[in-house]
Amino acid sequence: MTKGASTLMDMRLLAAQAVAREAGALARRRFVDQSFTVGFKGPHDFLTEVDGETEALIAERLLEVFPGDGFIGEESKARSAGEGGAVWVVDPIDGTANFARSVPHFCVSIACVAGDKVEVGVIYDPMRDELFAGRRGGGARLNGAPLRASSANALASSSVEVGWNLRAGPEQFVNLLRRVASTGASPSRTGSGALALAYVAAGRREGFVEHHIHAWDCLAGVVLVTEAGGYVNDFLRGDGLTKGNPLIACAPGVKEALVAAAAFEGVAI
Ligand code: IPD
Ligand code: CA
Ligand code: CA
Repeated sequence: MTKGASTLMDMRLLAAQAVAREAGALARRRFVDQSFTVGFKGPHDFLTEVDGETEALIAERLLEVFPGDGFIGEESKARSAGEGGAVWVVDPIDGTANFARSVPHFCVSIACVAGDKVEVGVIYDPMRDELFAGRRGGGARLNGAPLRASSANALASSSVEVGWNLRAGPEQFVNLLRRVASTGASPSRTGSGALALAYVAAGRREGFVEHHIHAWDCLAGVVLVTEAGGYVNDFLRGDGLTKGNPLIACAPGVKEALVAAAAFEGVAI
């Protein structure tokens, strides 16, 4: 990346943080007022009008400042990148089922990819006012303070989030849960993959695994975990950006053990 391109990417990091705060404030306001209706895209696949409104705000703000950039959001049609090749990857509300059920655990997730590298990752939890921000090669921070992944080196003393969605059948999920629990780790499932990844970066959990996850759920978290010294598998391989992939993210000391326990096809250290 040239110096000019790198400076532009630093500006994208600043813009993403400001936009994540504004979008988070909107989601928080609507959550507190409970001023929304709840619909479904499918079983357990919640949709509220706040998802669409929040994504529209994020797209409008980012593309106003960077009109040549591409945009992939969970709730809207993708727009391809111009010459610069930078693409925003956005989940306006990750943890929508929590949001819809009045559980205050959700976030805004904004990443920026250039080529095969995730350059910027910002996750904002508006209920706790926690802003996680990472820049490839520039570290990861929580409200300005540097983040470090956990120093644990045994799964037996670890906490591992096991993501669930209907794309993997119940058998696959239960088998994964069994393999993770068999290591002695304490499994959890809190309903926001993005926040789970931010927590791995912050050393609040040792790991996160999910059979299949989309780029908008995880790319911001991928930057945070990597920059906090953690391990993440090669999520962008193949069609990861547009079709998703399995994901393992964890503290460096448990990576061999967690990759072995997850036993995801095509994922090896
Ligand atoms: C979901 C959450 C969940 C993860 C799913 C995602 P949504 O996103 O991140 O934790 O397990 O794979 O689809 O629907 O809340 O935006
Ligand atoms: Ca999501
Ligand atoms: Ca979402």
